Amino acid sequence: MSIKTLTLAMTGASGAPYTIGLMRHCLHAGIQVQFLCSQPGQIVLGMESDLKLGGNPQKMQARLAEYFEVDPALINVYAKDQWTAPPASGSSVADAMVVCPCTMGSLASIATGTSENLIHRAADVVIKERKPLILVPRETPFSSIHLENMLKLSNLGVVILPPNPGFYQGVNSVDDLVDFVVARILDQLGIDNQLSPRWGE
Ligand SMILES: Cc1cc2nc3c(=O)[nH]c(=O)nc-3n(C[C@H](O)[C@H](O)[C@H](O)COP(=O)(O)O)c2cc1C
Repeated sequence: MSIKTLTLAMTGASGAPYTIGLMRHCLHAGIQVQFLCSQPGQIVLGMESDLKLGGNPQKMQARLAEYFEVDPALINVYAKDQWTAPPASGSSVADAMVVCPCTMGSLASIATGTSENLIHRAADVVIKERKPLILVPRETPFSSIHLENMLKLSNLGVVILPPNPGFYQGVNSVDDLVDFVVARILDQLGIDNQLSPRWGE
C-alpha cells in the first residue's frame, strides 16, 4: 500500500531527532502529515532540537511548514482534546500511524484503550480499523509492565520498533544513527528511502 496520509504522534520520550527526520522525509515525499504532539513531547522537542513548538495548532502548523520548508497545506496539527479531528474517527483515519518516540505512559494507554487524549484515541482507532500502527518505544531498561504492554500490542499486529540503531553499516556521525532508525520506520511504512546503507550494499 502506498501511504498518502500519515498520523505522526510525538510523545514525551527522548528521541526528537527521529521525529524530525521522519517528518522531513514524509513531507518531502508529498505525504500529508497529521501531527499530534503531547505537552511532554513539546518539552522534549524543545530540549533536544532547534524546533520550538508552542501556541495553538495553527501556529504550530505554520512553524512546522517554515521549519521543513513545505506548503503548510501538507501539515495538520491537532490539539490533544480536539475530538472532532479526523484521526479521532474511523471514517477518516489516515493510511497509517506512527508514535515516535512513544513513552511508556502512552504505550500503556494505547495497550489498554483508554483514549485519554487524541494520540491515544487515534491509536485506538488505527488498531480497530486494522491499519498499520508503529510504536517507537523509548526507555531503558524495560520493566515487565512495559514488555507485557508491548507483547499485547504486538499480538494485535502493532509494530514495536525500538530505536536501536545498528553499527554494521559504518557510522560517521550521530545523524547516521538517527537515519538508520528513521529508515527502518519508513521501510515498515513502505516509503521509498535511501537514508541508510542496506545490508550487502
Ligand atoms: C526530558 C524528558 C525525557 C523523558 N524521557 C522519557 C523516556 O525516554 N521514556 C519515557 O517513557 N518517559 C520519558 N519521560 C517522561 C514522560 O514525558 C512522562 O511520563 C509523560 O507523562 C508522558 O506523557 P505523554 O506520553 O503524554 O507524552 C521524559 C520526560 C522528560 C521531561
